[in-house]
Amino acid sequence: MNKELFRIENLVKRYNITVLNQLNLTVLENDYISIIGKSGSGKSTLMHILGLMDSYDEGSIFFHGQPLNPNSDHASIRAQSIGFIFQSYNLIPHLSAEKNIVLPAVFSNLDYDHKRMKALYQRLNIEHLLDTDVSVLSGGEKQRVAICRALLFNPPLILADEPTGNLDADNEELIFKLFKELHQEKKTIIVITHNQERAKEAVKHYVLEGGKLHAKTTL
Ligand SMILES: Nc1ncnc2c1ncn2[C@@H]1O[C@H](COP(=O)(O)OP(=O)(O)OP(=O)(O)O)[C@@H](O)[C@H]1O
Ligand SMILES: [Mg+2]
Repeated sequence: MNKELFRIENLVKRYNITVLNQLNLTVLENDYISIIGKSGSGKSTLMHILGLMDSYDEGSIFFHGQPLNPNSDHASIRAQSIGFIFQSYNLIPHLSAEKNIVLPAVFSNLDYDHKRMKALYQRLNIEHLLDTDVSVLSGGEKQRVAICRALLFNPPLILADEPTGNLDADNEELIFKLFKELHQEKKTIIVITHNQERAKEAVKHYVLEGGKLHAKTTL
């Protein structure tokens, strides 16, 4: 059995309402998990907490079996171990594609594997866009750039929150093909999608409902 990467126990997140209510999830190394759920059910909230980008009200998170202090920032785990892909790209406008991609290295003062990134530019077909201001790119091009940025430090865990929600069929195909390959390369992937057919490409399936994750054997 693969080793545990992340474990969430009895997670509670409240805004005005309780969005996540005693939620539990164990993520093993090399899992490929899809999460579906109605709009407003808390999928993005859960992803932001898993991505160590948001606080929570109750519960515990374990990373490689070690409890994470809810009051610490965890910036280095976030930078090196988690690649986050947003539905709305979150690129910095008026910077070139390449500058956007390498920005995490500038901020963290960490180096990355330049050869690996060059291969990734090819794989995602963005070599010809590297010098272009991201503001003028199409949605699919922006997302391909954003995925390169997410993979800069070769993170073992990739979190994707409706990564193809705004994209055409060709870009969707390219991105889910990449996820399949990354999974074969032993990465761990968690993807939120409204698309049942894409959700089926994952190996484990959950529905978020009533503040909890429910495992589904069939979708
Ligand atoms: N910062 C916030 N402040 C207050 N309420 C929030 C905040 N972020 C999310 N919520 C509320 O929490 C609930 C869950 O939101 P979330 O964005 O996680 O849903 P979702 O499942 O990702 O929906 P969608 O499929 O539309 O993206 C919603 O009712 C939302 O209004
Ligand atoms: Mg969402």
